[in-house]
Amino acid sequence: MQFPEYRPRRMRRTENLRRLVRETQLGVGQLIYPMFVIPGKNIRKPIAAMPGQSQLSVDEIVKETKACHALGIPAVILFGVPEKKDEVGSEAWNDGGLVQTATRAIKDACPEMTVILDACFDEYTSHGHCGVVVNGDVDNDATLENLGLVATSQARAGADIIAPSGMMDGFVGWTREILDEEGFEHIPVMAYSAKYASGYYGPFREAAGTASDFGHRKGYQMDPSNAREAIREVTLDVSEGADIIMVKPALAYLDVVARVRDKIDLPIAAYNVSGEYSMLKAAAERGFIQYDRVMMETLTSIRRAGADMILTYHAQEAARLLGEGV
Ligand code: PBG
Repeated sequence: MQFPEYRPRRMRRTENLRRLVRETQLGVGQLIYPMFVIPGKNIRKPIAAMPGQSQLSVDEIVKETKACHALGIPAVILFGVPEKKDEVGSEAWNDGGLVQTATRAIKDACPEMTVILDACFDEYTSHGHCGVVVNGDVDNDATLENLGLVATSQARAGADIIAPSGMMDGFVGWTREILDEEGFEHIPVMAYSAKYASGYYGPFREAAGTASDFGHRKGYQMDPSNAREAIREVTLDVSEGADIIMVKPALAYLDVVARVRDKIDLPIAAYNVSGEYSMLKAAAERGFIQYDRVMMETLTSIRRAGADMILTYHAQEAARLLGEGV
């Protein structure tokens, strides 16, 4: 047998050699921590389907944000879990609403923290859909009208980034136009551009209290079978002025992250969603996997696929392991 001239194992021999040729870096600076805001004071309500995560009252959100800051995490994204819901989700654009109040409180206590607000309606509507329902379907343009109200209310509260997530046609352009009109031209839009109709959002339903009374979201979220269509969606959002493009979920869609990376030069975010988080927790609880190791491998895979930043419930645990805190 002819002996190989190139032996790949040479560069794997020691940790420092491996570090020198490491292609993908995972840093705390790329992590975004999602949190769920509930009414009240001094309340932490554990989310059974997401071990380690809780719904938090505003004062607890502030504490958790300070913990994130100390770990070096640059951004949080907030979801409101309001008591009051109605047909159109009007609580979403209440200036005194949960995410607006939490944002003001964070900006008071920890002004450097980047606050991202998810501009959507499903947590706020009585039926759990992402907009105004007309004849059993979410009406695109009526929903856009309300989305403008949400985006401006969130911007007034001090949000650093607005993230429209409802997958309505034209939602990025609309958000951009309204923000500019209202004097918020400096606020970036993070577009949930390729958001799939996914079963991996299961635990989020409990976390955000968004069980749908009827139907499904396949009329607005993308078909899991489609990848080319993701490029079309992303291209549209780029032309409408998106600053950051998102692919969601992350793991079952790493090919989509990679394709988008190939085609688009804007920053890409991937959302490592609730079901992805809970699967690791459940497997670890049963002793099937080593949690820390699999978590870091998972987050690294999302970076390797091409994501610049990762929205993840693992953010604090990963940050502790990465040890870049202040
Ligand atoms: C919509 C929204 C959802 C998630 C984030 N934003 C739910 C959905 O579209 O069904 C899911 C995130 C997760 O599962 O972690 N406001």
